[in-house]
Amino acid sequence: MGVSLRPARSGDIPEIERLLAAEWLPPMAIQEFLESFWVLENEGRVAGAAGIEIYGEAAVLRSVVVAPELRGTGEGDRLVRTGLDYARDHSARRVYLFTMHAAPFFARYGFEPVTTDDFEPAVRESWQYVGLTERPEILKQMTPMRLRL
Ligand SMILES: CC(C)(COP(=O)(O)OP(=O)(O)OC[C@H]1O[C@@H](n2cnc3c(N)ncnc32)[C@H](O)[C@@H]1OP(=O)(O)O)[C@@H](O)C(=O)NCCC(=O)NCCS
Repeated sequence: MGVSLRPARSGDIPEIERLLAAEWLPPMAIQEFLESFWVLENEGRVAGAAGIEIYGEAAVLRSVVVAPELRGTGEGDRLVRTGLDYARDHSARRVYLFTMHAAPFFARYGFEPVTTDDFEPAVRESWQYVGLTERPEILKQMTPMRLRL
């Protein structure tokens, strides 16, 4: 039966949270943004996720995760492309993200490293920006990135 990508449902949230927690990614505000969240389903289990948050002309790509056993098989790429297509379809012009280890992966899509000073006002309202700028010791381990669509 292969791996399918489908919109996330409320019932997926515990499994999404488990995947994120295993990678030390913040399992926050999933329900709030559920309509722009996707999961990978493999043999009845949630095996990956990604979400997009829209803030006017800007968007934040978040929670991109693929279960270890599926990595390197193109599923992360499928999740990112789905999120970026959603951002384009919702008139976003710029997409931001924070990553600790995956900057080279996101650079493949044209994401470039920026500083938090480059974040536009609408995105500064996002929980991730607020949370990270309040915790400089964590922020300094992250690479903020931006893609112009
Ligand atoms: C980053 C992650 C989502 C990539 O998922 P994946 O399913 O392994 O990626 P894919 O198989 O779709 O890879 C697509 C391409 O990117 C490349 N790639 C994958 N991970 C990469 C990385 N860390 N750095 C650079 N390139 C990478 C692959 O080699 C592949 O290249 P190819 O098309 O030339 O073969 C996955 O490694 C992961 O879940 N990591 C832990 C969570 C994380 O750090 N997420 C980012 C949080 S913001």
